[in-house]
Amino acid sequence: MNNQKRSEPTIVVIFGASGDLTSRKLLPALYNLNLDKLLTDRLAVIGVDRIAKSDEEFRKLMRQGVDKFSRRGKAEDGPWDTFAQDLHTLAGDFSEDGTFRKLADIISSKKKEWETDANIMFYLATPPSVMETVARGLGNVGLTADRNRSRIVCEKPFGRDLDSARELNTKLTAVFNEKQIYRIDHYLGKDTVQNILAFRFANSLMEPLWNRRYIDCVQITVAEELGVEHRGGYYEKSGALRDMLQSHLMQVLCCMAMECPVSFNADEIRNKKVDVLRAIRPISEEQVHLNAVRGQYDSGQVHSKQVPAYRAEQSVSPESNTETFAALRLQIDNWRWHDVPFYLRSGKRMPARVSEIVIQFRPVPHLAFPPRTVPDIQPNRIILRIQPDEGIEVKIQAKQPGSPMRLKSVAMDFLYEEAFRVPEPEAYETLLLDVILGDATQFMRADHVEAAWSALMPILTMWENVPPTDFPNYSAGSWGPDSAVMLLARDGRNWWVPKLQDSKQGHGQT
Ligand code: BG6
Repeated sequence: MNNQKRSEPTIVVIFGASGDLTSRKLLPALYNLNLDKLLTDRLAVIGVDRIAKSDEEFRKLMRQGVDKFSRRGKAEDGPWDTFAQDLHTLAGDFSEDGTFRKLADIISSKKKEWETDANIMFYLATPPSVMETVARGLGNVGLTADRNRSRIVCEKPFGRDLDSARELNTKLTAVFNEKQIYRIDHYLGKDTVQNILAFRFANSLMEPLWNRRYIDCVQITVAEELGVEHRGGYYEKSGALRDMLQSHLMQVLCCMAMECPVSFNADEIRNKKVDVLRAIRPISEEQVHLNAVRGQYDSGQVHSKQVPAYRAEQSVSPESNTETFAALRLQIDNWRWHDVPFYLRSGKRMPARVSEIVIQFRPVPHLAFPPRTVPDIQPNRIILRIQPDEGIEVKIQAKQPGSPMRLKSVAMDFLYEEAFRVPEPEAYETLLLDVILGDATQFMRADHVEAAWSALMPILTMWENVPPTDFPNYSAGSWGPDSAVMLLARDGRNWWVPKLQDSKQGHGQT
């Protein structure tokens, strides 16, 4: 949401710097922002980690990350060398005050060298259990005292349930004030997610239709073709509901269902989102089986390649009951959405990597055309494609050329790539720049995170108390378990099947 002004001198401190996120996302993002001249020349990065490394080793590792993961491909020597001059490391235990005292010294000598004050971003690329320790350590040495210049960024997951999220919020706000805390959900950095608000609130066409009178249901799908890869250890304790639904899909849901904000002020937007979460109809534990579905992938074929079952993945228990697929049916109890179901699903090892939102409209009140002219009438749909093939598709009925009269469902298509012809920045680029510029619009406030956990707690509790009896229950390369089909079939509906990129398959109903 930033307005592209250039940043002030900035020191980025990354805790957990030897983790995957730093080389895969954070450094490529900072490097690209630097190439796009969106950052000041006075940018220093300090990677803090338990494992000791020299600055040279750290720079080498980060270069490898940029070469492999940057959207621009391999870095060029000249610009990289200039950028890398201010990448530093600090080895130390997060539970020792000495680590933070050393950090404070490095920061203060950097400011002396620059002869100016600087904004400081503390990025916690650490598990939630460590966040509190780091925050306390920073507070103890006075690094959080400047309320305007020091900011803390917390990676998801933010807690692992409502109680732990509340506790973490209490501990963080003992050291930082809420305005200094940026709880990140990288889906909010995606242009196509931000575009949901533009689509809804910058076009007068949509608002009159965007309610229970015209909309039959909304489906949000975030499918991944990858399995858990090397993240089995983390995923075993998380599962799809915590990893994807609680954060990314809930955010998308909020963008779809929120009321129009009065302005694009951070708190104004976040108030409207929290209203949505608070209006989600509570699911009682007895109703969980009717509104939530879990699945775990078996072996199978993805893009004609044989892949193993979840239980055979690295660092995963052969008897694991962790869900790799979750689907929900949510109702939002307010005037706009009463009785319009929102179906959410996300899973690993699906047929394709595809995230999209389908807004399905009610049928016409009276069909004047004789049945033979419309052998297969489809409801109007708007499909917001978050990734890939970023764009928007509007499905309408049209008359086929010639006689006799026949109607067919066709698409009006907007493609980001064609319309703008500029590459989309990575979500982390957008979000890191927002933090550097002090814009919290696209970050979760404490009450948001707690409301999102709250809505899911009955499901989490029920799933923990009653282990699944049918895992694994879907083959890798399929759209999930049969029970997910039933979730909609009970309401007389079907999941919309996303178009698969490398085949003509899809775009229809299951
Ligand atoms: C992360 C999850 O937050 O999002 C991962 O922890 C998931 O499990 C990833 O793979 C998906 O992000 P994207 O941007 O590739 O859709």
